[in-house]
Amino acid sequence: MKNTGLFISFEGIDGAGKSTHIDGLAAAFKAQGRHVTLTREPGGTPLAEKLRDLVLHDAMDPLCEALLIFAARRDHLQNVIEPALARGDVVLCDRFTDATFAYQGSGRGFDLAVLQQLESWVQALPQGLAGNSATGLRQPDVTVWFELDPAIAAERLAGARVPDRFESQPVAFFQKVSDGYAQRAEADPQRFVRLNAAQSRDAVWQQLAQHFVQRGWLSA
Ligand code: TYD
Repeated sequence: MKNTGLFISFEGIDGAGKSTHIDGLAAAFKAQGRHVTLTREPGGTPLAEKLRDLVLHDAMDPLCEALLIFAARRDHLQNVIEPALARGDVVLCDRFTDATFAYQGSGRGFDLAVLQQLESWVQALPQGLAGNSATGLRQPDVTVWFELDPAIAAERLAGARVPDRFESQPVAFFQKVSDGYAQRAEADPQRFVRLNAAQSRDAVWQQLAQHFVQRGWLSA
């Protein structure tokens, strides 16, 4: 029997510790015979990775930033995410549209109506697909939110590497981003899995794995 594609995104402020858990989940799905597409935003295709580099390092105004992020998302959806879901893959995506509403919307204070308009163009489902969303747009089936106090995240990031345009923002910016994620989670509680990322790495993993077992997507 052909597997049904599963689209999982991972979100949180910089320093929340998503990466190792995304790799762990990929390994767990593969161990159960699932084909996994591991990808990220902005990025995931040659064009979108070029746009990522611009967005993370070049000065630009907020509209330009939003347009480039959605342009990258369009290319990524068309060339990687939609084909993978059509094949029945588990798609694990490090960030997706919730990041745009949290970072560009809440963090930068950019117009949410413009972001919604861009989302409606970019995430329109391919013809003939009803998808899983009431809005008719492509959205993740599950979004794992690594929830962490911005002051703790800042401590974790301090001195880790040369910061990009987002990592160099003050704690107050990440508080707004965090509030943005909270609003998204409250608006769509069925889709969001909230993890307390202040716990040890092992405890976070247990919480994450348990959720996927409970939903029947991973066996215990
Ligand atoms: P991140 O996912 O943290 O990757 P890495 O672990 O390699 O640093 O970095 C991506 C950055 O891009 C992050 O700071 C958030 C930002 N971003 C946005 O501002 N809007 C978006 O829509 C997305 C997807 C990312």
